[in-house]
Amino acid sequence: MAVLPIVEVPDPCLRLVSRPVEAFDDRLRSLIADMTETMYNAHGIGLAAIQVGVDRRVLVIDLQEERDEEDKPVRHPRAYVNPEVLEVSDEASVYNEGCLSIPEQYAEVTRPARCRVRWQDEAGATHEGEMDGLLATCMQHEIDHLNGVLFTDHLSRLKRDMVMRKLTKQRKAA
Ligand code: NI
Repeated sequence: MAVLPIVEVPDPCLRLVSRPVEAFDDRLRSLIADMTETMYNAHGIGLAAIQVGVDRRVLVIDLQEERDEEDKPVRHPRAYVNPEVLEVSDEASVYNEGCLSIPEQYAEVTRPARCRVRWQDEAGATHEGEMDGLLATCMQHEIDHLNGVLFTDHLSRLKRDMVMRKLTKQRKAA
């Protein structure tokens, strides 16, 4: 496993539409292992392959909501290959989202509160599930990445400009 460099805005690769995975081979499993390590290393809860420069429809997610006796997050990494949203709820929810490709910037994004998703695992088996809460938000955020969409695209122009200005300022200070 290896920690890979994370692509940040305004890298144009973040705007690519990622291609479906066809081969469920060792290369895919090694990509998933590297993405998982990269996500933990960056203290993220989700990562899309394009964020490490690979334009394939692969996500890793681990909300790490559970804590052990020493208050360390308990890890349950999951990989989602070729995920697609089948259905979303009319009910919406608001979450203060961030993104490893837009470091340390957060903004409230409104999305459907629940979604039904179909995906494949790293062996190619198909799964389907109903998601809600943070998982629904995170899944929709990550699937957006596979379509070249960033959470800032869901904001008003005013708010988006504000986030980008803060990012520029922070980069200059660093
Ligand atoms: Ni993101």
